Amino acid sequence: MAKTPTRPQRHPRIIRALPALKRAIADFRARRCKIALVPTMGALHAGHLALVRAAQRRADRVIVSIFVNPTQFAPHEDLKTYPQTFAADIAALAALTTDVVWAPAVATMYPAGFATRIVPEGPASAGLEDAFRPHFFAGVATVVAKLLIQCEPDVAMFGEKDFQQLKVVTQLARDLGLKTRIVGVPIVREADGLALSSRNRYLSPSERNIAPTLHNVLKACAKKIASGQPIATVLDAGRSAIAASGFALDYLEARDSNTLAALTSRKAGQIRLLVAARLGTTRLIDNLAV
Ligand code: PAJ
Repeated sequence: MAKTPTRPQRHPRIIRALPALKRAIADFRARRCKIALVPTMGALHAGHLALVRAAQRRADRVIVSIFVNPTQFAPHEDLKTYPQTFAADIAALAALTTDVVWAPAVATMYPAGFATRIVPEGPASAGLEDAFRPHFFAGVATVVAKLLIQCEPDVAMFGEKDFQQLKVVTQLARDLGLKTRIVGVPIVREADGLALSSRNRYLSPSERNIAPTLHNVLKACAKKIASGQPIATVLDAGRSAIAASGFALDYLEARDSNTLAALTSRKAGQIRLLVAARLGTTRLIDNLAV
């Protein structure tokens, strides 16, 4: 019988070129290691680290990718100012003994002449994030497909924080026949309920005080819907509460938690509440199961 591989206690190996990544993966495979991938854009916080821990529970070797993917940002979005904290990210991953950090340059992921784009449908056209960020899911699907093909993981971890993204990636892996199992990880929150996000650091102190409203409204709506109140009325009240606290609301919706389709009846499936709203220039998203 194969010996159970032990996890090395050391800093992650930072790999920036594809041949070195392929060699590392071949070495893991030769040792019969199960491989997990945790795709990130860096600026790591406890939410990302929960994904890494979940990956460690399911695999013998963990690859964390750090790549701020330009194709998922629209021209007016925050690509240029997206937080880059690479040294701190590596230190945080070293404390968890991550095996590999895959940190390709933009020119490695998208070399001159790159001309392919994966345009997802189904959950990617549910009228949620896609309605406000039309570039977003084609960028995510293209880079995630590349990461899954490059790293050939047995499992890949995605946060429920980006619930629609989790559904899009699950559909993508199924539709492309990739062998990777996509695993969702619950949202990690601050003590006051605010979902951890790399973008929370943009909030001013007064915005930071208002920000937990999103989670509080989701909780209140979930409770009312669970107790039988009409979904449309509950959502209207929730939308007003979010706007009244100073947010510009993009959406607050109740959807089928599997398909993200609009609910035709309470029995249509498990219900997920999803919200996106802007505080000043910072856009926050959150979601909650009913
Ligand atoms: P990023 O925003 O860095 O998030 C990386 C992963 O961490 C995602 O799966 C996201 O859902 C998860 N995550 C973020 N905050 C979380 C929280 N509070 N609790 C649990 N998980 C959380 O999402 C992306 O990067 C990119 O779109 C990517 C998938 C890497 C493709 O570029």
